[in-house]
Amino acid sequence: MAWLLRRASVADLPAIMALETSTFGSDAWSAEAMRSELAGAHTHYLVATPEGSDAVVAYAGLLAPASAQQADIQTIAVAPTARRGGLGRTLMLQLMAEAFSRGAREMFLEVRADNPGAQSLYEQLGFEQIAVRPRYYQPDGVDALIMRAPLSEPRTSLVEPVPPAAPITATAPGEPVSTSGEPAGASAALTDQPDPTAEGAS
Ligand SMILES: CC(C)(COP(=O)(O)OP(=O)(O)OC[C@H]1O[C@@H](n2cnc3c(N)ncnc32)[C@H](O)[C@@H]1OP(=O)(O)O)[C@@H](O)C(=O)NCCC(=O)NCCS
Repeated sequence: MAWLLRRASVADLPAIMALETSTFGSDAWSAEAMRSELAGAHTHYLVATPEGSDAVVAYAGLLAPASAQQADIQTIAVAPTARRGGLGRTLMLQLMAEAFSRGAREMFLEVRADNPGAQSLYEQLGFEQIAVRPRYYQPDGVDALIMRAPLSEPRTSLVEPVPPAAPITATAPGEPVSTSGEPAGASAALTDQPDPTAEGAS
């Protein structure tokens, strides 16, 4: 399966909220909170659509104020039908690269203690648990694990430089995304389409 990754805009709010509520249930953000994230000056959200379709099957968001040393993964969700194909990993790598390019040198995130799948994804990407917030997720009373990863120059990169604004083919299914020997990510193409409705989004 190949996906197209692109910068999310406020126009993606309904599709993102549909995935947000079906994925996170009682932990889901409100539409107002998500709209504010999508329009934020210091955030960067991506959505993924299957090649040839407009259906949003995944999204992920970053908070990385310019020149700040620390950045945060705000959220990530992949539709059940699109999981275990490398899409979550690809989205995370794109956000980590974006954070690095904005000047961040370490990344933080929170994950439920009862979500071993997501923890496994994050550990693969270099995140380590640094703290616990007891009973952070209510009403379930589940702990939040705080994880941190150092950020460095991305070793995975798009296959070849192309002019700005052109779609970029990242990798073919099952093939490495770089020559550095890193494992392959999802097959994906990236277009960076700044949100015209965003307030000061970079
Ligand atoms: C967590 C999530 C984003 C992962 O997305 P994904 O596209 O399935 O992840 P990937 O295919 O890129 O997985 C990469 C690696 O992460 C690990 N991983 C991902 N999901 C896993 C799971 N459910 N169980 C165990 N390991 C898992 C595996 O090592 C996997 O590599 P492999 O498939 O070669 O074994 C997705 O399961 C999801 O949206 N879950 C619900 C929302 C959620 O929990 N978000 C995180 C909130 S902190």
